[in-house]
Amino acid sequence: MRRWPSLVIGEFEFEHPIIQGGMGVGISLHRLSSAVSKAGGLGVIAAAAIGLEIRNELANLKEADKVVLEREIRKAKELSGGKPIGINIMVAVTDYEEKVKIAVDAGADVIISGAGLPFSLPEVTEGKDVCLIPIISSARAAEIILKRWWSRYKRLPDAFVIEGPLAGGHLGFKEDELVKEEAPDIYSILDDVLHIVDKWRIKAGFRIPVIVAGGIYRGWEVKEALSRGASGVQMATRFVATHECDADSAFKEMYVKAKKEDIVIIKSPVGMPARALKTPFVESMMRGEKRPVKCPYHCLKPCNPRKVPYCIAEALIKAKEGDVEEGLFFCGARVYEVDRIISVDELFEEIHSEYEREQA
Ligand SMILES: Cc1cc2nc3c(=O)[nH]c(=O)nc-3n(C[C@H](O)[C@H](O)[C@H](O)COP(=O)(O)O)c2cc1C
Repeated sequence: MRRWPSLVIGEFEFEHPIIQGGMGVGISLHRLSSAVSKAGGLGVIAAAAIGLEIRNELANLKEADKVVLEREIRKAKELSGGKPIGINIMVAVTDYEEKVKIAVDAGADVIISGAGLPFSLPEVTEGKDVCLIPIISSARAAEIILKRWWSRYKRLPDAFVIEGPLAGGHLGFKEDELVKEEAPDIYSILDDVLHIVDKWRIKAGFRIPVIVAGGIYRGWEVKEALSRGASGVQMATRFVATHECDADSAFKEMYVKAKKEDIVIIKSPVGMPARALKTPFVESMMRGEKRPVKCPYHCLKPCNPRKVPYCIAEALIKAKEGDVEEGLFFCGARVYEVDRIISVDELFEEIHSEYEREQA
């Protein structure tokens, strides 16, 4: 018998108030997402460069993305026993609208979009039965989305995910703020976002759930998040260290071995800061070295292949495939606390028992 509150998003009710954060370039695919949804959380497939693994078999990456995205959604739905599956689609991908349509037509139940403000999401999904969740890093972003969606489409988000400064992957803060640890704390952003969604309560007819992400690892932190008004948490780094995670086992081992001093904030070639593990590849990029980019796909809007020092998609896929020298391993700020690889069910058990125990 679970003693934590369920997470309600639209018509869905999740037994665990936990979303598994989408992890692009093949880290969260059908295996991880179906295991999470089957266990009672919300499992999320990430669409970013999802087709890279079969890019050589098809004419281009966009075509490969379509094939793999449809396949992964179908498999995840099958394996989860028909439980809801979310798809993370970054606004920064060049074919954003097309990917959203493919995902919805393939049976996605929830679309989660960050790395930009998803202004067109209600229009692209009009008439479809799908929950829409923007990822934001400030209350201002929440307000802009609420106003824009309401004035144009009379539609409001089914939830917000706030990604704070301790999250993994690309981050919505300035590099300097992150390095100096001066970015706003997740709970101060949460307070401001809750204040805004409260103002929209009457228009929405409900209180839009707000979910916090970034640096939440233990059950007592889930408790803290809920006690501060969040409806749930989104966790990613901890889900990498599960048997079901779709990355190569060398990727997971990198997390288990990681120490605090191995974590760096890099400036990604697409202009945003990101948190990653220091590998020989990352060190050489930090020294200013370059890898010639021959880009046949142009997968991210802000990327200019003629100017970037390396291809981020290639570096991320090397990590997914376990290349510990040449890969780019995104990670959350507390990755060094990951000490073993367990199953998704065990992870939920552990977090839940910590939630009940609270911190000693
Ligand atoms: C390896 C990795 C890849 C990620 N890829 C994406 C992505 O493709 N899209 C996205 O919106 N967020 C991405 N994220 C962010 C996560 O979804 C999540 O919000 C964040 O990492 C939560 O913090 P935590 O890792 O400390 O739990 C990624 C994070 C990691 C660790």
